[in-house]
Amino acid sequence: MCGIVGYIGNLDSKEILLKGLEKLEYRGYDSAGIAVMNDNGVQVFKEKGRIADLRSIVDEDVMANTGIGHTRWATHGVPSTVNAHPHQSNSGRFTLVHNGVIENYDILKREYLQGVALQSDTDTEIIVQLIDLFVSEGLSTEEAFRKTLTLLKGSYAIALLDAENNETIFVAKNKSPLLVGLGETFNVVASDAMAMLQVTDQYVELMDKEIVIVTKDAVQIQTLNGEAISRDPYTAELDASDIEKGTYPHYMLKEIDEQPLVMRKIIQKYQNDQDELTIDQEIVDAMNDADRIYIIAAGTSYHAGLVGKQFIEKIAKIPVEVHISSEFGYNMPLLSEKPLFIFISQSGETADSRAVLVNIKEMGHKALTITNVPGSTLSREADYTLLLHAGPEIAVASTKAYTAQIAVLSILAEVTAKSRGLELDFNLVQELGIVANAMEVLCDAKEEFEDIARKFLSTTRNAFFIGRGIDFYVGLEGALKLKEISYIQAEGFAGGELKHGTIALIENGTPIIALATQESVNLSIRGNVKEVVARGANPCIISMKGLETEEDSFIIPEVNELLTPLISVIPLQLISYFAALHRECDVDKPRNLAKSVTVE
Ligand code: M6R
Repeated sequence: MCGIVGYIGNLDSKEILLKGLEKLEYRGYDSAGIAVMNDNGVQVFKEKGRIADLRSIVDEDVMANTGIGHTRWATHGVPSTVNAHPHQSNSGRFTLVHNGVIENYDILKREYLQGVALQSDTDTEIIVQLIDLFVSEGLSTEEAFRKTLTLLKGSYAIALLDAENNETIFVAKNKSPLLVGLGETFNVVASDAMAMLQVTDQYVELMDKEIVIVTKDAVQIQTLNGEAISRDPYTAELDASDIEKGTYPHYMLKEIDEQPLVMRKIIQKYQNDQDELTIDQEIVDAMNDADRIYIIAAGTSYHAGLVGKQFIEKIAKIPVEVHISSEFGYNMPLLSEKPLFIFISQSGETADSRAVLVNIKEMGHKALTITNVPGSTLSREADYTLLLHAGPEIAVASTKAYTAQIAVLSILAEVTAKSRGLELDFNLVQELGIVANAMEVLCDAKEEFEDIARKFLSTTRNAFFIGRGIDFYVGLEGALKLKEISYIQAEGFAGGELKHGTIALIENGTPIIALATQESVNLSIRGNVKEVVARGANPCIISMKGLETEEDSFIIPEVNELLTPLISVIPLQLISYFAALHRECDVDKPRNLAKSVTVE
C-alpha cells in the first residue's frame, strides 16, 4: 500500500515523478504529492484524490533535478491534503515520503516530540520531525536519519530530502518494498520497477534495515550501522507494453483477456525439452518430505488455495489445510510433524502473509512461495519460489493471477504425483491447452456477459453465488470480484448451507448465480436453485457443456472437471466487470482498496 518514487539527475524531475506515480497508483489512490528540490529549496505539491488531481496543481514553471513523490492509501489519518505525503518538518528543512506503518509513533511522539506542533494525523510525520529534532541537537542528517530509524517499530520504505543538500536523497527500507534504479546520469527510487521503467530497467533490490545514500552519480547501500554493502543490479524483465492499457478501457478487461495467453505461457515455462511438466527437484522433494501442507494466502489468492487443496489432495495424495493469512497468527492449528508451507500471493508483498512466513521460518519450517513477482519479499524470504508468469497485474481486482495460481498449483500437484509413482488418468499439458482454448471462447462472449450483468445485477443491492464442491470455491471468488468493484453486497455459499440460515435473505428478485460444472453434484445444486426460486429468487445458472438444461443462462465449454475453476471464473469476472461499468464504478481502482496490501 502506498507507492513512492524519487529522482535525482540532470533532468527536470516533476514529469518523471508524476509519470512514476501514475504507474504506482494501483498501490493507493486517496491522495498524492511530490516534493521537488533545487537551489531555492524544496517545494511541495500535494492534493487529495488521484494523480490527475495532483498534476493539475503542480506549478509547471518550477524546475528541479531532485524530487520525491507518493501516492497514498490511508492508514493513520483520513484521506486529505494535510495527511497526504510528502510531510515536512516544522523548520521546513526536511521533507519525506513513507510507505508502511510506524507502530510506536504515539510513544515516540510522547517521548521526543512534546511541544512540537504536528501538522497532520499521520504516523509518518513523526519520522520527519524526529530527524529535524536530532539535527537541531547537533547530529548530521545522515546520523539523525540512522538514529531515527533505530527508534522506529513497524514497516517503512522512506525517501528523504534535506533542503540544505540538494545532491542527495536518503533512503531506507524495512518490510515495505523499495528498489533503487540506476541510470548513466541519474538514479531513481521506486516501490516497484514498473514506476521507473520509463527511465531505466536496471535495479538494485534493498533488504530490510538497509539505508541508501543516493546521488545522481552513486548509490551507496549500507547497514543501519554504516557498513557498506555491495549488490549487483538486475534487469527488470518488464515490457513497457505490459504495463499499458493499450486500446482497452480498463486494465481489468485487458487482464481478463490475457488469461488464455497466460495459460499457454505457463505450460511453456513449466515444460522441459521432452514436453513434460517439470519443477525444481528440491521443491518436489520438499512436497514429498511433507506429511501435511499448509497453504497461507489472502483474498483471491486464498480462493485459489482452496482449489489448490483439491488438486494436491486428489492428485498428489498429500493432506492440505488452507488458511487465511491474517488469521493464522491467532488461530495457528496444531501443526503436523513435517509441515510444508505454501504462500500464494500475486504481489509477493502481502503483509499478513509475510507475518506468517517470518513466524514459521523462526519455527524452522520450510516455505514455498507461489507469486507473480520475482524478487518480491515473499519470494526472497521463502526457501523456494514458483512463478506465475502472468505479467504485471495492475487492476486492483485480481483476475489473471487467480487462474495462473490455479494452473501452477495443478502443475505442482501433477509433478509431485508423478514423482510418487501415482498414475494420472489425464495429460495435464493437453488439459491446460483445452482450458486455454475454452478461455478464448469465453473472452469472446463478452456481449452475453454484459447482458447477464444488465439483467441480473443492474439494480440489485445484493447477490448470492452458490455452488457445491469446487464450484463453491469459485463462487467465493465470484462474490469477492463483484463486491469489490461494483459495491453490490455479494456472498458465496455452499449450496447445501443455504437452508441453514442464508435462505432467509432471499426475496423477490434476489439474484442467485449458481455454478453447475460438477457432474456428481449437478442434481443437488439444481435442487438448491429450485428452493430459492420457490422463494422468489432470480436464478442465473452457469453450467458446463454436458450438464446443461434449458433453464441455464450460460454454458461453458467442457474441460476436465478438476480444472473447471480455470474457466468457470471467467463468466464471473466479466459479469462483475460489466455490473461495475453499468453502475459507473471505477473498475480498476475501487474505493477504499489498494492492489498490494502491505500493512497488516
Ligand atoms: O498480492 P496477494 O495475492 O497476496 O493479494 C491478496 C489479496 O489482497 C488480493 O487477492 C485481493 O483480494 C484482490 N483485490 C482481489 O481481487
